[in-house]
Amino acid sequence: MTSRYRVECRRFNLFFPAQFREANSSIKDALKTHRRDQLIEWIKGLLAVPFVLHSQPTAIFEPLREPAENTALAAQRRYVEIMRDVEELINDHIAHQRAGTHDRSKLKLLVPSVGIFFTPLLLHDAFIYQDTRRFISWRRFVAPSFNDIRLILNTAQVMSLVRSGPLDLVTFDGDVTLYDDGGSFAPDSPLLPRIIDLMRKGTKIGIVTAAGYTVARRYYERLHGLLDAVHDSDLPSTLKANLIVLGGESSYLFKFSEGEPDRLKMVPRDEWLLDEMRMWQESDITELLDLAELALKDCLVSLRLDGQILRKERAVGIIPLPGHKFCREALEETVLVTQKVLELSPVGRRLPFCAFNGGNDVFVDIGDKSWGVRACQHFFHGIDASRTLHVGDQFLSAGANDFKARLACTTAWIASPAETVNLLDEIADLDRLVERKNR
Ligand code: IMP
Ligand code: MG
Repeated sequence: MTSRYRVECRRFNLFFPAQFREANSSIKDALKTHRRDQLIEWIKGLLAVPFVLHSQPTAIFEPLREPAENTALAAQRRYVEIMRDVEELINDHIAHQRAGTHDRSKLKLLVPSVGIFFTPLLLHDAFIYQDTRRFISWRRFVAPSFNDIRLILNTAQVMSLVRSGPLDLVTFDGDVTLYDDGGSFAPDSPLLPRIIDLMRKGTKIGIVTAAGYTVARRYYERLHGLLDAVHDSDLPSTLKANLIVLGGESSYLFKFSEGEPDRLKMVPRDEWLLDEMRMWQESDITELLDLAELALKDCLVSLRLDGQILRKERAVGIIPLPGHKFCREALEETVLVTQKVLELSPVGRRLPFCAFNGGNDVFVDIGDKSWGVRACQHFFHGIDASRTLHVGDQFLSAGANDFKARLACTTAWIASPAETVNLLDEIADLDRLVERKNR
């Protein structure tokens, strides 16, 4: 598809005057930004330079004068120098944040979409760690990729969190992060012993999912493997109480409860809502969902989607008719249209909402994961953003619901439950290293 796209662009360049091309390419860029992570793309561009200058593709047919090991180490030296420089730029941005001038940092000039950093990122050490697993510096034809950099950023984040003290709270997204899309937490999930290990060390766990159900039974159906394992474990009750579920992004809070048949007990809203959330008016919630429903219905008709509207107490969505699969373009179009309609409405400015592409559905939820994570921090008596990690799979700026968690805490962007397993192993390894050092 990419090469077809390039061919079209070349034809386009031949036939259209420069001014028209410029106007068109800025529209194209504007429409594509929701599918780009500018920080990752920028780092990728920086690493492309040493790759071009120092990788040795001809070595596969011309014997090198240098052993391969030496050329790889020379490339690595250049890569880590760049990562160190980016690390310094982030430290400078953090210094500007403290001074209240983060919009004037050099990093902000270079990557205008960067937000808040709650901790430094140990990018130099993280590159070396990932290089020993992914052999980035050893590659001759494939430059450092988006996924390489996404994983280096995750490692840099957890290195910073673990080295600077205990990790107080980890919040996990559900679908794609803990189990496959639409699946459930199975009793034999490799994540189980790793999450219980975190809980044993005193880390609090929040499952912050978009899945919005008003009754514990529905969450038990999705999370039974985890809930039963915590129930049957030898963890003391005080530690078992450190597991909560926040559903519907930021709408329903359930706490682990040994005595309940579904292992969860709903916590009434007035016991956990943040002060700002108490200001959300029921009339606004209805108005926003009505408007979202209209926009979704329009897309259903104009894009001829084989789906139906699902209206809930705090959400409205389009779900597919049995056996149907929506194409990515239709899902994205629906999210972007609905999001724009809501953003431009007075009620959309009064009330936070989250419109996102769930893989084979589109939902608009009241609130978002920044409120969900903040509610977890508040429930556990005020955990700091710099001691909280949210793990999720949806981090693009529109149509992705984990993105908003970046406003409330540090984050790790994974692409599958297997990557979540690797991330928790990294945390455990780093923990052991820190313990050994402190002994
Ligand atoms: P997450 O990845 O854990 O945030 O879950 C996202 C998925 O939950 C969506 O793709 C939907 O399939 C499902 N879901 C079920 N109920 C709701 C709801 O009320 N709002 C949003 N998503 C929902
Ligand atoms: Mg997800």
